[in-house]
Amino acid sequence: MIQKYVFGKPIETGAVVQEIPETKSEILVMNQNVMEDKVVLFCKMEEEDIIYGLGEQVRGINKRGFSYISDATDDPIHTEGKHSLYGAHNFLIVNGRKIFGIFVDNPGKVVFDVGETSMETLTITTGKDCVIYIIEGESLKEVVKQFRQLIGRSYIAPKWAFGYQQSRWGYENEKDIREVVSGYQENGIPLEAVYLDIDYMEGYKDFTVDKEKFPKFSEFVEELKEQQIHLVPIIDAGVKVEEGYSIYEEGIANDYFCKDEEGENFTAAVWPGKVHFPDVLNAKAREWFGGKYRYLMEQGIDGFWNDMNEPAIFYSEKNLKKVIEEISAMKDKNLDIHSFFYLKDLVCSLSNSSKDYASFYHNMNGRKICHKDVHNLYGFYMTKAAAKAFEKIDPEKRVLLFSRSSYIGMHRYGGIWTGDNHAWWQQLLMSIQQMPSLNMCGILYTGSDIGGFGGDTTKDLLLRWLEFGIFTPLMRNHSAAGTRKQEVYQFGDTTDFRNIIRIRYALIPYLYSEFMKAALEDEMYFRPLAFDYPEDKQAKRVEDQLMVGESIMIAPVYTQNAVGRYVYLPEEMLMVCMTSPEEKRFEVLEKGHHYISVSLNEVVFFVKKNHVLLLAALNEKVKTTADLEQASYEWIGYVPEKAEYLFYQDDGISKKYLSKKNWKVCKFTKEDFSNGYLKKEN
Ligand code: NOJ
Repeated sequence: MIQKYVFGKPIETGAVVQEIPETKSEILVMNQNVMEDKVVLFCKMEEEDIIYGLGEQVRGINKRGFSYISDATDDPIHTEGKHSLYGAHNFLIVNGRKIFGIFVDNPGKVVFDVGETSMETLTITTGKDCVIYIIEGESLKEVVKQFRQLIGRSYIAPKWAFGYQQSRWGYENEKDIREVVSGYQENGIPLEAVYLDIDYMEGYKDFTVDKEKFPKFSEFVEELKEQQIHLVPIIDAGVKVEEGYSIYEEGIANDYFCKDEEGENFTAAVWPGKVHFPDVLNAKAREWFGGKYRYLMEQGIDGFWNDMNEPAIFYSEKNLKKVIEEISAMKDKNLDIHSFFYLKDLVCSLSNSSKDYASFYHNMNGRKICHKDVHNLYGFYMTKAAAKAFEKIDPEKRVLLFSRSSYIGMHRYGGIWTGDNHAWWQQLLMSIQQMPSLNMCGILYTGSDIGGFGGDTTKDLLLRWLEFGIFTPLMRNHSAAGTRKQEVYQFGDTTDFRNIIRIRYALIPYLYSEFMKAALEDEMYFRPLAFDYPEDKQAKRVEDQLMVGESIMIAPVYTQNAVGRYVYLPEEMLMVCMTSPEEKRFEVLEKGHHYISVSLNEVVFFVKKNHVLLLAALNEKVKTTADLEQASYEWIGYVPEKAEYLFYQDDGISKKYLSKKNWKVCKFTKEDFSNGYLKKEN
C-alpha cells in the first residue's frame, strides 16, 4: 500500500512513474512537523529496528547511528565521517514491528538523521515543497517491489557491458589503448571494453576527439569492435567557453546554458578552465545536449560514462575574483593562526561551494529555479538527455550508459559507478555494502572502481576486489592518473587474474539471467540476508555477506592478509570454491557459523538448498561475452529434493526483453545430481 503526501508546491522531479492519489490525512507511521521552510518527519526506532536504503552512502547496510545528507557532492575521500557522496537516493526502509519504506521526493538537500543525534529517533528534514511516499508491506521484498513499481523499470545495459572492462585516467592516445588491449590479449585474459577518460578530447571539449591522439578515430573504433572490444568515452557536464567551438556557440545562441542572478551565462571552471553548464532541466536544452552524443555514435561508439555532473565546480569566475582580491589584501601581512587558516579555507572553499550552487538558475518550463533547490537532479537529467537521444538515434538498441551523480528516477535511463573510491581495504567493504542499498533504489547496473581509484593498489587488494567484482553487473578496473598502474597484467604472473576473470565469464549466464529478472520484475539482484531470511535474527545482523540472485550467497574476503573468514549460513548450503572455471570444490555446510579458508586466488560462494545455477563451460576461445554463445553449459546444483530455475537469455542488444523465447523453465530432481553437484548440459 502506498500513501502519497504532498507538502507545499513540489517541483516535478520525474522520479515517479505511477499515478497515486494524494492522501489528505496525517502520515500515520511517523510524526510530522511542517514549518515555514521545512518539513520534519520523525519516528521512534525500537532497539532491534534496522534501517535499510539511502543508496550510495558511506557506512553499513544497516544505516542506523549516523546522519546522511542527500546533497550530490564531488568528494573523492569516502571515509565514514562523510555525509554525502555523488548521488541522492532518498529512500529508506524501516524494518521493525511494522515494515515500511519512505521516499522523500525533493531534489534539494534532505537530511536523514538515522539515530545519530538521538539513538532512538529517525528524523528526516526536507525543504517545505516535497512529496513523501510511505510504502507499507508484509515483507522487505514486498516494500521494495512496490517502490520499484512506483519509480519504474531499471535501466538494462547491453550484455557486452557484463564483460570485464578496463579503464584508467591517463590513457592518452591510440597507442595507449592498443597497449592495454594487447596486454590482455597476450595474457589470454578476456576484455570487453576500454575506457576513454578526459584525455581523448581536444582541450577537454565535450564531443570532440583529439585528431593528433586519434588520427582515424572511427576506423580505430571499428578495428576494436571487430575484436569485440568497445571504446567507452567520458562526457563531462561543463561545456568549454571558447569562441568558435560549435557546442559553446550553439549553447550561447539558443540560451541553453544556466544563468546567474543577472541573467548572464553562469561561468564556472572544470578541466578546460571556464565552462558553462547546459541547462539540462530545460527540455529544449536537454534535447540539444543529448543530440550531441550522436557525433560519437556515428563513429561507432555505443557506450558512455557521464562525469562531473553534480555538477562539480573547481571554482566560479565570480568567487575566484573575490578570493583573489581578499588574498591580495593579505600580501605582506603577518598571518597569525586565525588569518592563516582563514586564507587556507578561502582557497579550499572555492570548489563545489554551496554559495555557487545558490547563485545560478535553471529554466524549467519557463520557471526560473535556483540550482540549489534542484541540485540533486543535474546528473539525472544529463543522463536522461543522453538516453532520450539514444532512443531516437537507434530505438531498438541498448547503449551502455552510466553516470556519477544520480537521483532516483535516473535508474530508468542509466546505471552509476560509485565514484572516486580509494585503494583501501575498507572501501572494498563499503562497495559490498553499497550494492544492496543501491538496488533498493532501482540502481541495478552498478559497480565500484575495482582496485580503487585513488592511491596505489596492491596485488592482493586487486585480487580480492576482483573476487567480489565478478558479481557486480558493472565490472570495471579504473584508477586515477599518477597512481600505480592497475591493469591486471602489471603485477607479474597473470594466472590468478586470468582465472578469476574467466570465472566471471563462466558465471555470466547466471548473473545476466538474475540481473534481467531483477530488472524486469522490479526486484533486487543484491540483497541483504534479512530479505531472504526475515525470521532469522542472526542473518538480520550480517553486514558483509549478500544474496546474489535467487540461488547464491557470497561472503567476500575484504581484509588484508586474511586466508579466510567467518561466514554465517542461515540454512544448510553448498559451498563452491573455484580457482578457475575448471577447478571446483564442493562441500555441504550446515546452518550456523563457520570459518572458511579462502586463498588469495579463490572465489567462494554458497548455493541455497534446492537451488541451481548455470555456468558456461568455457573453452580457451571465450574472450568476450559474444563468444559465450558457442559455449556449452553446466549446472551446479544442491538438490536434495527438486529445483526449478527460470533461465533468461536474449540477444543481449535489442530491447525485446519480454519475448517468450527468452525464458526457459528448467526443472531438476535429486537424480539429476546423483553423481555430485554438477550436471553437464549437452
Ligand atoms: C572524476 C571521475 O570520478 C573519475 O572516474 C575520472 O577518472 C576523473 N574525473 C577524470 O575524468
